[in-house]
Amino acid sequence: MRYLPMNQIKKDMILGQELYDGRGNLLLPKYTKLTDDHISYIIFQGITGLYIDDSFSRDVEVREVLEPEVRRDTLRMINHLFQRALEGQCLTEPEEDELRCKVECVVNQVLDEQDVLYNLLDLKTYDDYTYCHSTDVAVVAGVLGAKCGLGDQQLHELVTAGFLHDIGKVYVNAEIINAPRRLTETERAQVMDHPRLGYEYLKENYHFSDAVTQCVYEHHEWYNGGGYPCRKKDKDISFLARILKVADVFDAMTSNRSYHAPYLPSEVMEYIMARSGMEFDPDVVTVATRELSIYPVGCEVELSTGAHALVIRNHRGYTLRPTIKHLETGEIIDLSDNRKSWNITITKLLM
Ligand SMILES: [Fe+2]
Repeated sequence: MRYLPMNQIKKDMILGQELYDGRGNLLLPKYTKLTDDHISYIIFQGITGLYIDDSFSRDVEVREVLEPEVRRDTLRMINHLFQRALEGQCLTEPEEDELRCKVECVVNQVLDEQDVLYNLLDLKTYDDYTYCHSTDVAVVAGVLGAKCGLGDQQLHELVTAGFLHDIGKVYVNAEIINAPRRLTETERAQVMDHPRLGYEYLKENYHFSDAVTQCVYEHHEWYNGGGYPCRKKDKDISFLARILKVADVFDAMTSNRSYHAPYLPSEVMEYIMARSGMEFDPDVVTVATRELSIYPVGCEVELSTGAHALVIRNHRGYTLRPTIKHLETGEIIDLSDNRKSWNITITKLLM
């Protein structure tokens, strides 16, 4: 399986993975032979690339922290949760049980897949961005939280807050949230009120621990005190919120939005590292640089030799030097441990 940006997707290519929209509805099943109509529809949905199955990449295994079916069910649940918030209602008891079960599921998968580097590729649709974003942030936060040494209860709280962190946005006009332009002062103030709105809705309607609601309230605070809503700084911001902050920015910047094209994972990681100690907690940034892949498995890269290759494996702590498969010769080169390849560098990620 390999990942190709939409401008390289051609008719008759075979889809390597099920494609869901942000509400958990199946758009196309795995192994669909793509038609021109499929391709136009997928582009219209705002999806920027697809996993394709072909003979060259058949042995490339893309391991995801969250299995596709679990992700689909989680998207459905989050969609429902946000719908309830919009109606000003809380969940019924069975629905709350389902939420707990999904949190448990994410925590278990994060703990089970600890040897997998988080491989983020944006498969989000425009319309249902918030649901996809909430799911992905919960997973990235879980991955970072586990490596930051959080205990079981804290991990559950962090993943719950990841699912719910932007729930206050349902009370902000969607046109403002998605506006492909610079916001006015009044509009900016409305958007910046979403952590408080979410916090108050959750406090009134649920019995989550203070750790969860506080994390939702503080997810836009900056480590140096430059964030909002309370301009808290340093250790006054809860540790869970400092982890969630990195996960939130990493996912938001690598996503396709109406107001910006997705940044490459390497660009986002550079942004996060540059703002370590300012916007982000330096300890969390250190963990993120080890755990989040810069060259995701299945992606094509350009090498300093001019050749192109497919990323087939990542190495924890050496995210700049993955194992690659040469596109022309099929040769497999481990850039992290190969004396013959010390002078080969990756010059471009083709996404
Ligand atoms: Fe937010």
